Amino acid sequence: MNSKVPIGVIGFGNMGQLHTKNAIKLGLFEVKAVSDIDENALKVAKTDFKISDTYSNYLDLLERKDIEAVIITTHPNTHAKIVADASRYEKHVFCEKPFTPSFKEAQVAYSSIVKNKIKFQLGLVLRYTKTYNALLNYLSSEVKLLGIQGRYGGYLISYKPHFDRTFDRGMVNGNTIHLIDIIQYLAGSVKEVYAKFNASFPKEPELSGIISFVHKNGVISNLYASGAMRVESFLFVNTSSKDYLVESNIKLFEITDKGKTQILSSELGFEEELVAFYNYLVNGVPSQSGIEDAMKLSYLMEKVYESASKGKLVKV
Ligand SMILES: NC(=O)c1ccc[n+]([C@@H]2O[C@H](COP(=O)([O-])OP(=O)(O)OC[C@H]3O[C@@H](n4cnc5c(N)ncnc54)[C@H](O)[C@@H]3O)[C@@H](O)[C@H]2O)c1
Repeated sequence: MNSKVPIGVIGFGNMGQLHTKNAIKLGLFEVKAVSDIDENALKVAKTDFKISDTYSNYLDLLERKDIEAVIITTHPNTHAKIVADASRYEKHVFCEKPFTPSFKEAQVAYSSIVKNKIKFQLGLVLRYTKTYNALLNYLSSEVKLLGIQGRYGGYLISYKPHFDRTFDRGMVNGNTIHLIDIIQYLAGSVKEVYAKFNASFPKEPELSGIISFVHKNGVISNLYASGAMRVESFLFVNTSSKDYLVESNIKLFEITDKGKTQILSSELGFEEELVAFYNYLVNGVPSQSGIEDAMKLSYLMEKVYESASKGKLVKV
């Protein structure tokens, strides 16, 4: 029988609760304690999740010797400090994306992780989602990748994110990062980036943008990010023998001259990423979204913002 890893959850909003539900359901973790600055969130932990040990200061949770790892699901502008503190207390870390708003903040967290030899996993759920794993397999086995086009959206023009956009830097770092990461995962490292954001940027966090990458292998990818209308996301992958389409991250289609056929439908990989974190902690299986991946993505995001700020192509 597996022994459960004792963990704490810091930030008990939407994602903190989702990961807690999955951690309990999978039977791989024991959620010992929860921390949140919002008393209502702590009430939810006590009443709905029967977690009696709650803290409004996360340092009190980190003090506990019986907790081996933490899930960090606070707002992104708090991640660098909380990750650095958790590492200092020698807790392994699962942290939600985006790692931090800026690469500079990521470096602070990175130093503490490396210094304290912490196992770290970033919540890049699409890397653990079956549609993208299947696509990666097809790309590495049968075909030559030529190009990728994508669109990432999902918000109405009147929609205000339930937390302040400045918490994560903007729409692109907060949301589109999922597709940017998966594009890099599928097509390999990026050599050059050109990004253009909507006109109110950089005075205000961007709500939409166009992002183009030239990958080191010559593949070109283009992404339209929109926080300004309700658009389902898609990724269109063009290869030498056939094309693939991923709709809303969970439906995979194959497109040939005979038409479009659905070949897979999947849930988002929230459970799979927790299983992977467990395997990393307990069985030493390296994470598919470990600290080096987090830093590489964070650096790329910095370059995306640099290009959008300067209005010119930037080398990565
Ligand atoms: N992987 C995904 O698909 C996905 C989806 C949504 C959000 N996210 C990410 O998850 C993270 C949390 O987002 P959310 O939607 O759950 O937000 P949320 O607002 O629902 O929850 C965040 C919680 O953190 C708490 N908090 C803030 N500062 C804190 C501190 N210093 N100590 C303790 N608690 C603190 C807030 O009170 C709040 O309850 C963000 O990084 C977000 O980008 C990931």
